[in-house]
Amino acid sequence: MVKIPNQPFCIFSPIRSKDICSFFYFSSMELTYTKCSLTDLQQLRQISEQTFVTAFEKDNNPNDFKNYIENAFALERIKEELLNPNSDFFFALSNNEIVGYFKLNVGIAQTDIKQDNSIELERIYILAKYQNSGLGEQFLMYIKSIALKRNKKMLWLGVWEENKRAIKFYERQGFKKFDTHPYFIGLDEQTDWLMRFDLGTL
Ligand SMILES: CC(C)(COP(=O)(O)OP(=O)(O)OC[C@H]1O[C@@H](n2cnc3c(N)ncnc32)[C@H](O)[C@@H]1OP(=O)(O)O)[C@@H](O)C(=O)NCCC(=O)NCCS
Repeated sequence: MVKIPNQPFCIFSPIRSKDICSFFYFSSMELTYTKCSLTDLQQLRQISEQTFVTAFEKDNNPNDFKNYIENAFALERIKEELLNPNSDFFFALSNNEIVGYFKLNVGIAQTDIKQDNSIELERIYILAKYQNSGLGEQFLMYIKSIALKRNKKMLWLGVWEENKRAIKFYERQGFKKFDTHPYFIGLDEQTDWLMRFDLGTL
């Protein structure tokens, strides 16, 4: 019997045990989702910036990145997004602790496409310590159920072409690339893949 620090007991070989234990530990985590309101503004701003910086700071020009985050995660900007009737933010919680969040857009709030029967997953971020353990898959199951309840036919998203891990994750979850669009981090023009999941296949 091998015990991994900060992980549950595991009966598997020491070599693979950390991965396997975190599989059982996190994939058994029960998540609840709560739609954000104005009272969540500070917390939402903080987690939005934190998860974005952790994910992308290292791969970007420092000046462009600084300009981008100052604008994208300004309190007023997030407040405006929260108050947009065509956008919804959700926190995902486990044992009252936020493990990640996502943002959905419909109608004219979508950053591309803007069809009535489509819904955009504009952001999906899981705190670094909880990544790679199946929570993203759980988030997407919930997101697809929201999209179906809203009678949408297509769930789509934009993902930076250099974010290989996320692209692989989306492909495994049934998303397919259908186009690209430019995305600016400061003055740096980057390319996002547009990927779609057809909800009719569920
Ligand atoms: C992209 C992201 C949302 C995916 O969520 P996640 O919880 O890490 O994803 P999952 O654990 O469900 O799946 C990711 C990988 O873990 C594997 N996996 C799935 N369930 C697993 C489990 N129970 N245990 C171990 N691994 C598991 C998957 O096979 C996948 O492997 P792959 O990388 O070889 O494809 C998350 O990693 C994240 O927030 N990344 C940083 C921000 C980001 O890039 N957001 C997207 C912007 S477009």
